[in-house]
Amino acid sequence: ECKVMVQQIRKAVIPAAGYGTRFLPATKATPKEMLPIVDKPTIQYIVEEALASGIEDILIISGHGKRAIEDHFDSAPTLEQELMRKGRQDLLNVLRETTDVNVHYVRQKYMRGLGDAILCARAFVGDEPFAVLLGDDVVYHPQRPALRQLIDVYEETGGSVLGCQIVADAQVSSYGIVAGTMQNERLMRVSDMIEKPALAEAPSRMAVLGRYIIRPEIFSILQNTEPGKGGEIQLTDALKVLAQRDTVYAYNFEGRRYDLGDKLGFLEATVEFALRRSDLGDPFRAYLKQLAETL
Ligand code: G1P
Repeated sequence: ECKVMVQQIRKAVIPAAGYGTRFLPATKATPKEMLPIVDKPTIQYIVEEALASGIEDILIISGHGKRAIEDHFDSAPTLEQELMRKGRQDLLNVLRETTDVNVHYVRQKYMRGLGDAILCARAFVGDEPFAVLLGDDVVYHPQRPALRQLIDVYEETGGSVLGCQIVADAQVSSYGIVAGTMQNERLMRVSDMIEKPALAEAPSRMAVLGRYIIRPEIFSILQNTEPGKGGEIQLTDALKVLAQRDTVYAYNFEGRRYDLGDKLGFLEATVEFALRRSDLGDPFRAYLKQLAETL
């Protein structure tokens, strides 16, 4: 047995400062991270994936108009008393899942891009490798959470790991795209990265989809990263520099991934998560079948 000795991944960062303009007017007064898939805010799916992957502490990068997120993961004394009085232990258990989490917050004061948001996590993360989960990407896997898959690769290799999947040509310009050499069927050693390339410039169809294990050297790189695509400080640009100095892998993770930044993707997530629910699946499936006949 010759495993690399690596530091445990204990901390995760969830950037949640963006405006959510694609979902206006819903996101005018409500953070987009609070929009529900069935009955649970999208950010709670992300937090649950982090916890199920072994993460102990979570930093949410917050911003203007995002207080509802802090309230969501706080206790709610009046509501809890009322539920206690009514003997609703079932609902108290539901609430406990939102309060039994070590969440920390920092505010990104100016919207300067994802790279700048991650830089806000520097004091929290310190000098250890950490995870990043983006709220627009929700991944369903019945056994192995996407982040856990990345942590497993990290523990075997000791390098930074980018969670990727192959996307269709039409989607290439929506993501960070990686290039490199395949180490095995799912693992690529990254040599280059481009943020949202035109299809003609894309070096592959491997897109970074909102899951990262990053070594702490990224912070000093981010500090010197100039604004890139869209005038924003891009995490992709900093990761490209990291890949030139250090080992960065792209891992084609397993699981059904939903793009919640897109209205159609959001609808797909809503329908499929509802179909998987034990309390809703059967009647909802029957309704959809009947509807399909009349459409
Ligand atoms: C961000 C990243 C991009 C990544 C994507 C995944 O873009 O910049 O590299 O592929 O998330 O969802 P955004 O979708 O925030 O514009």
